[in-house]
Amino acid sequence: MPEPVSPVTFPPAFLWGAATSAYQIEGAVREDGRTPSIWDTFSHTPGKTAGGEHGDIAVDHYHRYRDDVALMADLGLSAYRFSISWSRVQPTGRGPAVQVGLDFYRRLVDELLAKGIKPAVTLYHWDLPQELEDAGGWPERDTAYRFAEYAQIVGEALGDRVENWITLNEPWCSAFLGYASGVHAPGRTEPVASLKAAHHLNLAHGLGTSALRAAMPARNAVAISLNSSVVRPLSPGDPADLAAVQKIDDLANGVFHGPILRGAYPETLLAATSSLTDWSYVLEGDLRTIHQPLDALGLNYYTPTLVSAADASVRGPRSDGHGASDHSPWPGADDVAFHLTPGDRTEMGWSIDPTGLHELIMRYTREAPGLPLYITENGAAYDDKPDSDGRVHDPERIAYLRGHLAAVRQAIADGADVRGYYLWSLLDNFEWAYGYEKRFGAVYVDYATLTRTPKSSALWYGQAARTGSLPE
Ligand code: NOJ
Repeated sequence: MPEPVSPVTFPPAFLWGAATSAYQIEGAVREDGRTPSIWDTFSHTPGKTAGGEHGDIAVDHYHRYRDDVALMADLGLSAYRFSISWSRVQPTGRGPAVQVGLDFYRRLVDELLAKGIKPAVTLYHWDLPQELEDAGGWPERDTAYRFAEYAQIVGEALGDRVENWITLNEPWCSAFLGYASGVHAPGRTEPVASLKAAHHLNLAHGLGTSALRAAMPARNAVAISLNSSVVRPLSPGDPADLAAVQKIDDLANGVFHGPILRGAYPETLLAATSSLTDWSYVLEGDLRTIHQPLDALGLNYYTPTLVSAADASVRGPRSDGHGASDHSPWPGADDVAFHLTPGDRTEMGWSIDPTGLHELIMRYTREAPGLPLYITENGAAYDDKPDSDGRVHDPERIAYLRGHLAAVRQAIADGADVRGYYLWSLLDNFEWAYGYEKRFGAVYVDYATLTRTPKSSALWYGQAARTGSLPE
């Protein structure tokens, strides 16, 4: 075991950021030519989100972005990761761009730059224009071509002022929660379509990367954010449990990083899914398009996944932490059982385990040598409430952040090239199928008044950002 690092001081150029996504914070869903995305449709469909909640207003960031940037500057953050709403920029998902949509993001970026905060743009954080879903969505190849066109539009509009780019956020969720378990938009439960979606998301990443590179100055960096799972066996000595780990690792990780980092889908994945699909939608040249040099890799980490082999008789309710559904988000893995990971839990029911983050970073340090890494999301939901003096004290979140940042620092000491960390999330926001109940923000939002109050974790994190080391 390497020596633990102390005191916990980070390299001077380390980026201390926060992250958000368009549908979760912007609101203003019908303004300035924006049209519905799959998340507008899904959240307005009865029974799909907790309490029927939706992002119509969200935290009204579209109108309050200046104040939100000022808040980040006051805290002392050095970076901000946000996503672009595709249907604000290209309302039907194809054709010419809407200038007023692009102008919003240009104003946001200029505001950030004026305050010395480095922007990182995510092109796709799950909100596909509804018209593209009506034409078949991600299981259709054309959606990848449409994404490349959209990437070019945004790259041309913002490439002169934004250096850090992320094509897709957590394509696993888009493919498997969107098209297999159906707990996310568009809510389809079609295992084969979910595997097609995964391939077309990979293709979109490859085509989008080329489009961005053609549209932007060469100094800009292109990355993807993967929610790579840390998959662990219930019984490390049991070969059947190790086979279960392999299966879930392929479906969670290999299905994306195989083609992206190595130019091939894992043989074990092709074998495990052979009764569902022959993968004939992977066309000649696709893997070359997908496997192109990246400038960085984004890792989103929350909690590890614990699995074992299971026969049908002992298969219980899934506890993989990805929402309740009668349909599995793991096509071809019906013989795998999921278990609750040990340890204290956040409000999401996810166990707190910073060793998983260290493990993840070291894995990619080995598997993608030389590729700079960013933690593009990490954070925790807690049931935060203002106390009688109006302050919001969230010592559990501080402990969560401290533990995970220390794991990042340890990984750097162990040789990993981690360049930055984006706390999820800047603000309490719309947590997808869970609605507004799960609060991930470092800044508390009163949903009745939309007032923002930095929690004690925001002040703690701001101090870390300003000093480059973790406060006591
Ligand atoms: C991952 C997603 O990218 C983000 O949108 C979500 O809110 C967080 N995880 C927390 O679940």
